Amino acid sequence: ELGPYSHFMQKEIYEQPKALSDTIEAVLDAGFAMQLFGENAEALLPKLTGVKIIACGTSYYAGLTAKYWIESIAGVQCDVEIASEYRYRNAWADPQHLVVTISQSGETLDTMEALKYAKERGHQYALSICNVRESAIPRASELVFYTRAGAEIGVASTKAFTTQLVALFTLAVTLGKVRGRVSAEQEAGYLDDLRHLPGSVQHALNLEPQIKAWADKFAAKDHALFLGRGLHYPIALEGALKLKEISYIHAEAYPAGELKHGPLALVDSAMPVVVIAPNDSLLEKVKSNMQEVRARGGELFVFADADSHFSESEGVHVIRTPRHVGVLSPVVHAIPVQILAYHAALARGTDVDKPRNLAKSVTVE
Ligand code: F6R
Repeated sequence: ELGPYSHFMQKEIYEQPKALSDTIEAVLDAGFAMQLFGENAEALLPKLTGVKIIACGTSYYAGLTAKYWIESIAGVQCDVEIASEYRYRNAWADPQHLVVTISQSGETLDTMEALKYAKERGHQYALSICNVRESAIPRASELVFYTRAGAEIGVASTKAFTTQLVALFTLAVTLGKVRGRVSAEQEAGYLDDLRHLPGSVQHALNLEPQIKAWADKFAAKDHALFLGRGLHYPIALEGALKLKEISYIHAEAYPAGELKHGPLALVDSAMPVVVIAPNDSLLEKVKSNMQEVRARGGELFVFADADSHFSESEGVHVIRTPRHVGVLSPVVHAIPVQILAYHAALARGTDVDKPRNLAKSVTVE
């Protein structure tokens, strides 16, 4: 089953261009059409006045990324909730807000229970973004979008995450269209962005040898800090989760603007700092945050694109993708942080596909 690969995680990282093409196919055929979300979508999507996303772990980080897209492209208010917190909170519910659950397995207990709880609180309809057909969560939802990542076996989620991002981006643009905020020209541009995405992801995969060289350095460290801003902050969170989960290196992520509110105190020459810094509107801000790190002796490992115009210097290492891909940039930048975690784990000799204490599908509380 592994073919030329050594681990399922590695295989699944490399399957991402195909997983993305398969998931995008229906969108390229139909455009950003409501029917992509199921037969009830045309009746329900035009009515919603807000979105509440509920998920756990990596799926939650996909939700955090989606908040940026949904609020900026669709102009709809969007909250993102951790399922295990939401379900025990006296949460305020607006019946006109669409509940969106995100789950690779479709069986995560906390997400399932949070969905039931949202219905009890008064939410009327829910969309499931799920990778496993006919699992519990999509069966309990009025609307569904199946990601087509194929079976994901490694405990650490990789291809499920990037296909979830594509599903959520599709939701944002579709809602934007319904609400008259996306012009035909913009829609064509977003379709083009999707069409080019698998190729850009392939370019990111080709960076593996350079990323491995970084990972070999990380393997000797006890801690790492991940920074990003805006759309790339959730990718920093995902990078830190992947690293801690499979290599057992303690990693934390912060929005880079928060550095001086606390985490800067941790920075010294023993603390590698990974920065997700493509050429988006916050790049200049990120650059000044990086200077704050350098001034304290922190070593920077920067994932950028050609348009970010970084050069290497003392204590600043840079790996670049060829060009900036616009609003789908978080999908492309998910790849290098997955590869970094994978190789750091290999270098430390941990069980990549079955990290200690974790299960693939969390069907208990
Ligand atoms: C991390 C990881 C977990 C899952 C989480 C939710 O790599 O895989 O954090 O993302 O347990 O699982 P699903 O998406 O199946 O609900």
